[in-house]
Amino acid sequence: MHRATLVGLLAAAATTVTGAPSCSGVHAAAPGTVKCPLVFDGRVKATAALTDFDSASTSPFNPDYVKGNNLKWSQIIKFPQTSNARFDNNSTKAIEVTISDASIFQSQQGFRRAGLQFQGDTNNGSPGTTGVKTIHFSIKLDPQRPLNLSHEYLNVWHESADYSANQFNFEAGTIIGQSGLPKNTWKVLNRQNQQIWSTPIVKDDWQNFAITLDFNKNTLQVYYSQGTDPLKSVTSAVSNDNSGEGQYQIGILKKPTGTSDVVNSGYQESNLNEGLIYGSLFVEDSANGCISL
Ligand SMILES: *[C@@H]1O[C@H](CO)[C@@H](O)[C@H](O)[C@H]1NC(C)=O
Ligand SMILES: *[C@@H]1O[C@H](CO)[C@@H](O)[C@H](O)[C@H]1NC(C)=O
Ligand SMILES: *[C@@H]1O[C@H](CO)[C@@H](O)[C@H](O)[C@H]1NC(C)=O
Repeated sequence: MHRATLVGLLAAAATTVTGAPSCSGVHAAAPGTVKCPLVFDGRVKATAALTDFDSASTSPFNPDYVKGNNLKWSQIIKFPQTSNARFDNNSTKAIEVTISDASIFQSQQGFRRAGLQFQGDTNNGSPGTTGVKTIHFSIKLDPQRPLNLSHEYLNVWHESADYSANQFNFEAGTIIGQSGLPKNTWKVLNRQNQQIWSTPIVKDDWQNFAITLDFNKNTLQVYYSQGTDPLKSVTSAVSNDNSGEGQYQIGILKKPTGTSDVVNSGYQESNLNEGLIYGSLFVEDSANGCISL
């Protein structure tokens, strides 16, 4: 299910400039090129307005899910000042997904969450759940809205149509029940919540990820790079149960601490102000081994 994330109360951002993560001097490289057919394109036009995310006719994402009951996406998303992620260019821009005390979805009092779903990625019969598909996402921290890595954060995942499992989980922070894993890493977990790869969380630079799901062979494979570097394979195609259809989700789901019922109870700080910057969001068709690096 959905994991959540936490606050990162102001840590008074040691070195920040205005809510905008600084661009550590690596922005001039040529953007990466998408080589394979696009299935879903979540790259945001440079001309987009925040209110575009509130309407299905103008958002690349579902305007109705998954978010605080009384919030609109235009209140959740921000446009950070930052360099382009690897597969963005001058006609697209990064977005930041934020959570606050109001980020309570339905009656899930334990979680604070805001999760984007691609337009067209239906829970049943989605083109994202057949053949071989690769989800791409680039991530950057916002020093003004830090995560609290004492909590478990679920950031990118694919949830089965019956909501009983996630085929994969891309997480950060303290994984509940797995205290042996360091908290300051990005982690890819399989359907059984076993870590198959991790990398340290970097400050002030983009980290680029791609996960290929082979729905025929039931495998997943992880690709990674930092900054403007091309992606490289960092795992083999490992066995994974990709069955059960469902949807991708991208954003922040912060789990509470101190409970065995993370959906409904547990501890979350008040006055939450956390965010995570995303760019280069898309799903491509990786049939015949196609992958954009
Ligand atoms: C981070 O989370 C832990 C566990 O809930 C909490 O004790 C701590 O106060 C939090 N820190 C901040 C800065 O919110
Ligand atoms: C920028 O990216 C978009 C896809 O989001 C693509 O259609 C366009 O051709 C790219 N522009 C350049 C100059 O590469
Ligand atoms: C993108 O914008 C930057 C800064 O505005 C500019 O230096 C660069 O030439 C532009 N790149 C392209 C491909 O238009």
